[in-house]
Amino acid sequence: PVPGAAIASAASVAIAQPSFSRDITVLFGSQTGNCQRLASSLSGKLKEQGFEVTVSAMNSFKPNALKKVENLLILVSTHGEGEPPDNARSLHEFLYSKRAPQLNHLRYSVLALGDTSYEYFCQTGKDFDQRLEELGGQRLSPRADCDLDYDEPVADWMEQVITALNGAQSAPAIAEEAVLAAEHAESLQSAYSRNHPFQAEVLENLNLNGRGSDRETRHLELSLAGSNMTFEPGDSLGVYPENHPRLVEEIIAAMGWNSGETVPLNKKGEEGTLHEALLRHYEITVLTKPLLEQAAKLSTAPALHELLLPDRSKQLKEYIQGRDLLDLIQDFAPWDVPACSFVTILRKLPARLYSIASSYNANPEEVHFTVRAVRYESHGRERYGVCSVHCAERVQPGDTLPVYIQNNPNFKLPANPDVPVIMIGPGTGVAPFRSFLEEREEQGAEGKTWLFYGDRHFVTDFLYQTDWQRMLKDGVLNKLDVAFSRDTEEKVYVQHRILEHSQELYAWLQEGAHVYVCGDEKHMAHDVHAALISVIQEEGGLSPEAAAAYLDNLQQEQRYQRDVY
Ligand code: 2AM
Repeated sequence: PVPGAAIASAASVAIAQPSFSRDITVLFGSQTGNCQRLASSLSGKLKEQGFEVTVSAMNSFKPNALKKVENLLILVSTHGEGEPPDNARSLHEFLYSKRAPQLNHLRYSVLALGDTSYEYFCQTGKDFDQRLEELGGQRLSPRADCDLDYDEPVADWMEQVITALNGAQSAPAIAEEAVLAAEHAESLQSAYSRNHPFQAEVLENLNLNGRGSDRETRHLELSLAGSNMTFEPGDSLGVYPENHPRLVEEIIAAMGWNSGETVPLNKKGEEGTLHEALLRHYEITVLTKPLLEQAAKLSTAPALHELLLPDRSKQLKEYIQGRDLLDLIQDFAPWDVPACSFVTILRKLPARLYSIASSYNANPEEVHFTVRAVRYESHGRERYGVCSVHCAERVQPGDTLPVYIQNNPNFKLPANPDVPVIMIGPGTGVAPFRSFLEEREEQGAEGKTWLFYGDRHFVTDFLYQTDWQRMLKDGVLNKLDVAFSRDTEEKVYVQHRILEHSQELYAWLQEGAHVYVCGDEKHMAHDVHAALISVIQEEGGLSPEAAAAYLDNLQQEQRYQRDVY
């Protein structure tokens, strides 16, 4: 069994009755677009089966209408510390509020996307599933909690849902087609996708930081020639990295294996050398609870078994944090496991998503992206971000990288090029705004543009400085405000600049400006959100609640969009 494909307990699964309505409401909550794509392909399949289907983002759905819904399918991802995606927040809040109605007439099922390396794995999906039950709803089929490699569990869930809706006729082929359709929607007209990446030639790989900076940020340009791949500003690039070859060899040595031996590369039955498997196919830098559980089955080490006892969850969490497969192997030695069985407990090495930093129209058949090398020390050893350090240290012009386009419907320029845009993107968060501005230049757009940028030091860390200066000169960029946090005694951040320009920013909002935030979720996006509320409160003469509602409303109208990580 695969960790992460867990199906929740079927405590209250409804027995399908032929008399049920064939109207189905599909609601998705999606940040990067995965749930949105899956929802729309699922609904396509349901329509083919003769169902009446309404699909909508959770925040475009009037929650009181739930009183009339008989069949509800929810597809939702989880972010950060168990938080709902932006467009799921309002429905989530509503269901937990006093206004939530009884839902005894409702049959439902939840698909939860998440990542087992996070403590609050699939929390938002779990919340919806549990809350709908508390409100009287009956489960049509059990919830599926999916890890990063979600194709199989998603197909299983869809199959169960369609079977239940059809009153027990099985539907495996349809479910599989739906997953494939979602995959294809992802890549527009190109044949390349997450499961079939394009080998893109590297054209350029530059360090954007100046000498003496404590950061290293790479600007990569790849060729998409021959791929038919295109994208829009706001989309992301999925990049399949390679693990650090030194870590791979250290793991092999610690286990007493042989680099050249043959092992499975995936569940499809393909095989390759152990070195290749650990380099390109399996995740070796992240420990998850399901992985430790599987490892414990291959180990007699008492300490490993103790760590997994029900009352040790705090110790387990602490142990997992900042450790990798080499730690696990060293800490719970000795092992007596052949490589071919050990690798089957590892997760597939996932692609990393980067905001695309170029406009396709301005740079046809190319894609640019921005990566900051992640290097830090933990538990007495130097650690590296897999993809970022691969790009920084081991990728040169002429090499290829396996990539695909991940369409992001939740981070898009206004359809009307005359609408003003405000862009807030400190650090590598500035990447998509290079794409936005290149696109606007290409369109000859009339709308005003305003960029807030921040990083540590003006001299060494002003990413794409010459691009912004040229765009200012050419009138593509109308305003640029920067916050260099470590050049002055007191830290200044982008949100301080926002507050300083409160009046003008509010005026732009009143003129219909769209606001975009990209970058760090935990601190920056949160603080910027608060700063925007205080601007609206101050300048609009509103209460804090009314100002928050104003911003929620902007979000609802897709005039406030975030791409945060
Ligand atoms: P610092 O590292 O000096 O604290 C890009 O990483 C920039 O974002 C850096 O200048 C960093 O500042 C800054 N930054 C750190 N925390 C932030 C926050 N909560 N809000 C906005 N910017 C922040």
